[in-house]
Amino acid sequence: MKTAVFGTGPVGQTIADKLNSLGHEVMLGTRDVKASLQRADKDSFGRPPLKDWHKEHPTVKIGTFAEAALHGEFLVNATNGTGTLPALAAAGAANLAGKILLDIANPLDFSKGFPPALTVCNTDSLGEQVQRAYPDVKVVKSLNTMNTYLMVAPRSLPSTHTVFLSGNDTGAKDRVRELLRSFGWENNEVIDLGDITTARGTEQLLPIWVRLYGTLGHGMFNFNIVKGEVPK
Ligand SMILES: NC(=O)c1ccc[n+]([C@@H]2O[C@H](COP(=O)([O-])OP(=O)(O)OC[C@H]3O[C@@H](n4cnc5c(N)ncnc54)[C@H](OP(=O)(O)O)[C@@H]3O)[C@@H](O)[C@H]2O)c1
Repeated sequence: MKTAVFGTGPVGQTIADKLNSLGHEVMLGTRDVKASLQRADKDSFGRPPLKDWHKEHPTVKIGTFAEAALHGEFLVNATNGTGTLPALAAAGAANLAGKILLDIANPLDFSKGFPPALTVCNTDSLGEQVQRAYPDVKVVKSLNTMNTYLMVAPRSLPSTHTVFLSGNDTGAKDRVRELLRSFGWENNEVIDLGDITTARGTEQLLPIWVRLYGTLGHGMFNFNIVKGEVPK
């Protein structure tokens, strides 16, 4: 399937790589293709610059956010939380209309250092802001509560663990569930929390996630919801 991945950071690259290996025709979206391919610095994970990654993944196209949105029948948002609405505005409402958008972004503000603050919480979420801005886009929030490596390699942990779904459109959530299955997730690991307002809960897991990251010293962990019987 023709898929657009908005975002050239670690998440965008990881998801694009996986989708590409599964046979999707992927285009990464960025603000300025030339500038992004000219970067020489390693990313925040110490990974090589985009141009080196692209040499190893020549079948993944790179375009502007608008070109990627036009290309994609299925869309993935892997942009910085503070850049998500500007990135989608650049993608263009007409290019997004009617499509499914898997939203992995978190509304984190690192401007005052670690730990980051949430830019929206309690009574609203980034997922809802996106859904309100683009009512005819089928927004499904998922995969935002774990390290990017685990998103596409869930079997790297020694036990089952949990991925959440939030979104208003049941058909869109079914499509994302299929995608998760293709990434290696088991059905019983997927918890559908309900409509897009439930993204408040998963985005608000990030303050504890970043503290766990600080305490454990790495990101190879995830939340696991253990279900039991209600006592009679
Ligand atoms: N890293 C993880 O393991 C992880 C795990 C779960 C969720 N997430 C979430 O996934 C998203 C991506 O994370 P990441 O670590 O891959 O990279 P990131 O550094 O958070 O985001 C990089 C992308 O955001 C775009 N961007 C930044 N500011 C922008 C602005 N003002 N307008 C438009 N676009 C802008 C950049 O565009 P250019 O390409 O033009 O530079 C780039 O493509 C984030 O929301 C993050 O919270 C990350």
